[in-house]
Amino acid sequence: MTVTLEKSVEDFIATPRRLFIDGQWVEAASGKVFATPNPATGETLAQVAEADAEDVDRAVRAARRAFEGPWSRMTASQRGRIIWRIGDLIEEHAEELAQLESLDNGKPLSVARVADIPLAAELFRYMAGWATKIEGNTITLSPPFAPDAAFHAYTLREPVGVVGQIIPWNFPLLMAAWKLGPALATGNTIVLKPAEQTPLSALRLAELMAEAGLPDGVVNVLPGYGETAGAALAAHDGVNKIAFTGSTEVGKLIVHAAAGNLKKVTLELGGKSPNIVFDDADPELAIPGAANAIFFNHGQCCVAGSRLFVHESRFEQVVAGVADIARGITLGPGLHPDTQMGPLVSDEQLRRVTGYLDSGREEGARTVAGGSRYGERGYFVEPTVLVDTRPDMAVVREEIFGPVVVASPFADLDEIAAQANDTAYGLGAGIWTRDISKAHALARKIRAGTVWINCYNVFDAALPFGGYKQSGWGREMGHEVLEAYTEVKAVCAQLHT
Ligand code: NAI
Ligand code: MG
Repeated sequence: MTVTLEKSVEDFIATPRRLFIDGQWVEAASGKVFATPNPATGETLAQVAEADAEDVDRAVRAARRAFEGPWSRMTASQRGRIIWRIGDLIEEHAEELAQLESLDNGKPLSVARVADIPLAAELFRYMAGWATKIEGNTITLSPPFAPDAAFHAYTLREPVGVVGQIIPWNFPLLMAAWKLGPALATGNTIVLKPAEQTPLSALRLAELMAEAGLPDGVVNVLPGYGETAGAALAAHDGVNKIAFTGSTEVGKLIVHAAAGNLKKVTLELGGKSPNIVFDDADPELAIPGAANAIFFNHGQCCVAGSRLFVHESRFEQVVAGVADIARGITLGPGLHPDTQMGPLVSDEQLRRVTGYLDSGREEGARTVAGGSRYGERGYFVEPTVLVDTRPDMAVVREEIFGPVVVASPFADLDEIAAQANDTAYGLGAGIWTRDISKAHALARKIRAGTVWINCYNVFDAALPFGGYKQSGWGREMGHEVLEAYTEVKAVCAQLHT
């Protein structure tokens, strides 16, 4: 038995979806379409137009016209009201969006209802407030070559222009919100490419954004593949900035593609985040906390707590507790009310994750829970706990992006800081202890963009998010993100009296 789909959802997936360019729904220039599968069954869920370079070019031109035209003529307050209204419309259509997200991505409907959809709505509301608060400074000048002159100098913060945004499939609507909200609040126009695995919620969002009053061309949504549409967007000379979330490998390709016109680049990439449990941690919090850190969203989180470090005196207890939770998780289709964990997003991810399970076993890791594909239909993987690993194993070094945690014991604070930082990544970290000095001292030593203490996966539109090292460039959310979507202009006037 599964949840009954809303009529609007059934209608939405029954009709082939098109590209959203300049406020119009259009076919791809090539006429091509692609299928987005239902990851719980592997069957086709919906047909979607497939954008390529020519469509990207049309969308970039439309975004330029909107940037120079209606969007820049609006007051900041008018823009802010539209952005706020987008948040309201997401909330009004929450159940519909949650169902689409669950169908397309595979995540439990219950999770989409409490996390993805409300967080997306809140992101737009938070960013709506910033629209009227983009400010420069006045600056006192003391030029040594003109000591008697008087100047009036100030800075303006201006939008970067036309922004390309390429997002992944793990939180389809929320990633669209993280990208669109700040770009709109700062007055940019956008060409958004959702992931080919999960284009549906971004297309529905485009309808809601038009309903909210966004002028034509301000946001264009182009579903398509990375190697074609994504690469064309990253390389396009008419794009002033590219914002990307996805694999570190593709992040590096984006940097190369952006070099042609030196467009600005921000990147939110992979992770291999340490989650550290001290001997004085409350096991009632730390054990479910460690399980949630890796199993939330099936481990398909850039910030997943995939390396669990436990003080040696508690290692057996914590690992046994996390393994118990893993074994107790109910797997099933996202729309089934009992489901606690859905399928991975795609056949490709199923093969990637089970490949890591094989490589871990071959290299000598011991499986305490899970360890295999689940069932024969859909892309399900058992929640898995691995121990007896070595720091050089692929399962310890590389991002698995599935429900797989490697656990190892540690002895003291200095050792754990070094182990936690022994990674090419630096996105997140968790610390579980009752000792506040120890917690904050370790938080300073960890080279990562987010450190959670006695919690994990707490996200808020006000909290900046992003990576050190190979986890990325720049920050999303908070006021920090506004810098990524604005240029600073210094204006200097001499006052002749
Ligand atoms: P990916 O990095 O290939 O895809 C992310 C986005 O980039 C998608 O929209 C895709 O179409 C686009 N893309 C792909 N190649 C491109 C190119 N050459 N130029 C421009 N855009 C391009 O990630 P994929 O293949 O879906 O997953 C592979 C691995 O990447 C995962 O196993 C995981 O480790 C990591 N990943 C990390 C994410 C994160 O949030 N940091 C999200 C998704 C994947
Ligand atoms: Mg890829």
